[in-house]
Amino acid sequence: MDIGVIGAGDFAQAFAKRALKAGHKVKLSNSRGPESLRETVERLGPGAIAASKEEAAASDMVLLAVPWDNVPETLASLPKWNNQILIDGTNPYHGKAGTFTPANVGNLSTSQLVAALSPGARVVKALNNMSAPNLEADPVVNGAKRVAFISADDDGAKSRVESLLEGLGYVVVDLGNLRNGGLIQQTGGPLAGRDFLERGDVRL
Ligand SMILES: NC(=O)c1ccc[n+]([C@@H]2O[C@H](COP(=O)([O-])OP(=O)(O)OC[C@H]3O[C@@H](n4cnc5c(N)ncnc54)[C@H](OP(=O)(O)O)[C@@H]3O)[C@@H](O)[C@H]2O)c1
Repeated sequence: MDIGVIGAGDFAQAFAKRALKAGHKVKLSNSRGPESLRETVERLGPGAIAASKEEAAASDMVLLAVPWDNVPETLASLPKWNNQILIDGTNPYHGKAGTFTPANVGNLSTSQLVAALSPGARVVKALNNMSAPNLEADPVVNGAKRVAFISADDDGAKSRVESLLEGLGYVVVDLGNLRNGGLIQQTGGPLAGRDFLERGDVRL
């Protein structure tokens, strides 16, 4: 699959490494244009493509991987969505790593806000609770699989992202819709930042 990524920082590159290992192509984009990403895609290797935001956003599946403070301007700068899947991997913090303060998103889950800012996209919350090093690492740890959470209002989009994540090697846990599941997995929720492993031999 061709997967577009809006953002090309630590999180985006960790995702790219994992997706490339699974045989996908990844179109990375940032605010400065494809020229600025040449070294990055060379380092990532075959299948990594330096793209414009518009090219990345035209993919069937797109990962949003920009800092929270940049989300509104980034989404406003993209072309109209045409029913593509937008995976929201963001966390609501102001500032950069090390100087984080939680952002107030009012009465919405953060992905509901992302969905409101991207009409025409089918938004799925996923991957936000994994650190970049864990996302990049082998999802199998001592024989157990790392757990990935997903939430979405669109069941078809959710099941496509579930297949993607299973293909990357994760056990996927569906937390429900963008409102309820989103609040559970986003920063401030009970699963934020948790790193769970599931053993394959558990039968209940
Ligand atoms: N790092 C993690 O461990 C981790 C884990 C889970 C989730 N997340 C979430 O992932 C998001 C990104 O985090 P990060 O650590 O990867 O940040 P980062 O290393 O600072 O990278 C941010 C990226 O966003 C791009 N960007 C900013 N504004 C943009 C715009 N208007 N259009 C296109 N691209 C834009 C930047 O491009 P330029 O360089 O050109 O400005 C840069 O490539 C955040 O929401 C964070 O909460 C991070």
